[in-house]
Amino acid sequence: MKFFIDTANLAEIQEANDLGILDGVTTNPSLMAKEGITGHENVINHYKAICEIVDGPISAEVIATDYAGILAEGEALAALHPNIVVKVPMIRDGIKAIKYFTEQGIKTNCTLIFSAGQALLAAKAGATYVSPFVGRLDDISTDGVELISQIRLIFDNYGYETQILAASVRHPMHILKCAEIGSDVMTGPLSAITALLNHPLTDIGLAKFLADHQKAAKTA
Ligand code: E4P
Repeated sequence: MKFFIDTANLAEIQEANDLGILDGVTTNPSLMAKEGITGHENVINHYKAICEIVDGPISAEVIATDYAGILAEGEALAALHPNIVVKVPMIRDGIKAIKYFTEQGIKTNCTLIFSAGQALLAAKAGATYVSPFVGRLDDISTDGVELISQIRLIFDNYGYETQILAASVRHPMHILKCAEIGSDVMTGPLSAITALLNHPLTDIGLAKFLADHQKAAKTA
């Protein structure tokens, strides 16, 4: 399973990249705003800075919600760097735009997916990725991970090449469940990724190894 980091924070992106296991980055307008990145030029420069850090797919989201606007914005974003993936919302004009981008060879990530039907439509339009929001479904007492299973089954039934990008991942159990199901990608915060490092028995075991090594060195 590919690991993407879901943030616009350059220090966190750098930290995840330095771990050596990062495959890509997803951003959204809320994440950009959280970092105080406002204004067209600053947003564009921020995408360029992310592309300098990570050599992998970088999702950059359009703001326009009409067909012509999505095409204009998406083409400009795609021209920034070969690794840019145009993130398009799951709306009627978004699906039409994904079909157009696919024909132009522009990679897309269909975002704000909350049902298998939406994922199926995006796959039929040729989306490179679909982003079902696992955590936000859990937030409203609906099983987000179950949606990943449903989409996996449907895509496998028909051999769709669209990759399932489990989004809105909040914690390590989301990551593990998505990996069990066979999600192609997961995107989550740095905290969820680094939480996979930890186990108390690892800490206890390492402390004992080091203590035994010290003891043996003293008696040698
Ligand atoms: C998807 O790509 C979104 O950026 C993201 O995963 C949303 O996550 P959130 O529900 O934690 O805001």
